Amino acid sequence: MPRDAPTPPPFESEALDRSLDRYLAWGLVFMVALIAGFVAYRVREPGLRHEALRAQTTSYRAVGRRLYAASCAECHGKRAEGGSGPTLNAKEFLKITTDAQMQLLISGGVSGSDMPAWSLDYGGTMTDEQVRQLVTYLRSLEPQAPSVPDWRKGKTAAG
Ligand code: HEC
Repeated sequence: MPRDAPTPPPFESEALDRSLDRYLAWGLVFMVALIAGFVAYRVREPGLRHEALRAQTTSYRAVGRRLYAASCAECHGKRAEGGSGPTLNAKEFLKITTDAQMQLLISGGVSGSDMPAWSLDYGGTMTDEQVRQLVTYLRSLEPQAPSVPDWRKGKTAAG
């Protein structure tokens, strides 16, 4: 005996419409949330970057100060006031010397003088990072640096 063919469920166009509306509504909600997320990120990002830079400068300065005491103070003075080497805590020196120039001077040294090359690239003992930490430390002296017009003469200028 023939079996009854299964009756297909009735086509409910209203149910389909409702389901589609639901998907569209959720899609809109997610899109708005995504856009709001981007806006919030844009607003917060500069502050976060500024904070990260400040934290890094603080830690670089502290490490740089220790490196300076260990490797540079004997010639440039305990507080960079000058010794057998030039005064580095001098407004004039810090004003005309960029960070990049300082990085090069410390990395490569000054040939024909007592100033050794510090970078590993030039036979020294320091990584580029350490040289950068020294530069950060020396730069941090700038706001309070005294005027020493003869800074190149070292101790004899400051004294
Ligand atoms: C053995 C002594 C000595 C030591 C140690 C030394 N320096 Fe020097 N440094 C000198 C002398 C001398 C000069 C001057 C070179 C010249 O121009 O004739 C100099 C020059 C410099 C200059 C360039 C100043 C300018 O005239 O433009 C910088 C920057 C500097 N030293 C940083 C450092 C740092 C940072 C350290 C430690 C990592 C260091 N020095 C260690 C002797 C020394």
